[in-house]
Amino acid sequence: MTAGTGAPRHIDCAKQKCVALTFDDGPGPKTGTLLRMLAERGVRATFFVVGRNAAAQPAVIRREIADGHVVGNHSWSHADLGRASAATVRSELLRTQRAVRRAAGVTPVLMRPPYGSTDRTVAAVTRELGLAQILWAVDPLDWKDRNSGIVTRRVVRGTKPGYIVLMHDIHPTTVAAVPAIIRALKAKGYVFATVPELLGTHLKPGHRYTMRKH
Ligand code: NI
Repeated sequence: MTAGTGAPRHIDCAKQKCVALTFDDGPGPKTGTLLRMLAERGVRATFFVVGRNAAAQPAVIRREIADGHVVGNHSWSHADLGRASAATVRSELLRTQRAVRRAAGVTPVLMRPPYGSTDRTVAAVTRELGLAQILWAVDPLDWKDRNSGIVTRRVVRGTKPGYIVLMHDIHPTTVAAVPAIIRALKAKGYVFATVPELLGTHLKPGHRYTMRKH
């Protein structure tokens, strides 16, 4: 597969063994490399982008969308939304919505609160903005242990059907782990779904998700 192969497709995660790979904090210097790796393997993922990075690299956001990935909102400045005022939460999210829309012509329907920090205010504002809150079920701590082998092992051992996996495409060691992660999970029969494909009709604004519940 080459770039721009994001044609619609149908995955039924009620019947198939799905996992959703997600990448936070980008775009970063290695995001282009990651996009090539994913395209070559026919794998789609979900990117929770920091708004100011998206605004600085709109071509990468366009490429993510063109390749069939899903782009979600990770706030404008990687803010701790659970400790912020409603006005700050709204402005952090809205600025990022606009940056993604300006870059790629699509408006995100997913957000991931930085640090997983959320509260009732964040729930209310995300509901108002039409954003579902996407947390995770597998965290390989790739920001802490910058070692591709360790990250691969933790992701592969931690994954169960329907799980959302948290990684960061700003770390070269994480990007380098992706081919081995894909190979190992494919060997176990996993299908790589985007978060909307994984959650399907369960997806609702304001609600919080870590996995698909059967
Ligand atoms: Ni983050």
